[in-house]
Amino acid sequence: MHGPHLKVIAINGSARKGGNTAILLRYVLRELEMEGIETELVELSGMKIHGCLSCRKCAARRDGMCAQTGDMGNPLIEKMALADGILFGSPTYVSDVTPEIKALMDRACIVAKANDSMFRHKVGASVVSVRRAGAIHVFDSLNHFFLINEMIIPGSSYWNIGIGRDIGDVEQDEEGIATMKTLGRNMAWLLQNLKSPMAMPELAEIVSQ
Ligand SMILES: Cc1cc2nc3c(=O)[nH]c(=O)nc-3n(C[C@H](O)[C@H](O)[C@H](O)COP(=O)(O)O)c2cc1C
Repeated sequence: MHGPHLKVIAINGSARKGGNTAILLRYVLRELEMEGIETELVELSGMKIHGCLSCRKCAARRDGMCAQTGDMGNPLIEKMALADGILFGSPTYVSDVTPEIKALMDRACIVAKANDSMFRHKVGASVVSVRRAGAIHVFDSLNHFFLINEMIIPGSSYWNIGIGRDIGDVEQDEEGIATMKTLGRNMAWLLQNLKSPMAMPELAEIVSQ
């Protein structure tokens, strides 16, 4: 394999394991893998994860961790900190993200802010499954996490949305699947160019700062 070792962690916020959001995420991950990028898919379904307590202890400790223990918050924050790219997936729940992924986003964001923007210059992307309406709001919510954390977001041929209700329905959404594949290729391109001093020396210099 050529170039640096790169890893993308995908986090699926759906309450339904292996559902439409997982299917969409896997299309993105497959493209990344074809480019030699290591991937891992974590499904929050069934996991214990609480929201932020606003205790501000992370700001006092500054150890890259949340003060809450005993749930999946810190293990997931650690996985995100170690990855080069973070891919979020959420179904649309009443026009919004799921409570599980919101809990993780809130805690990871406050911890990152307390620790010198520890996700700075990572690549971030998000995908959304939806039956009918509300997906753009979900897409925006997920992307707000990346933007406030000084991360870099690749685009695709459309906004990263797949349409379907029952598990597997998104496979019928040809444009949605094509959007996921293009996203995967663009995410791989961005990761490889950001991390390769040969490809973009001036950018690599900024990223290493
Ligand atoms: C609690 C709940 C709320 C939902 N709200 C919406 C909604 O606001 N708009 C919509 O189009 N679909 C809505 N859906 C449908 C899901 O977004 C859709 O079935 C999606 O494909 C599920 O993805 P999954 O298989 O990854 O869980 C909702 C589903 C659930 C369970």
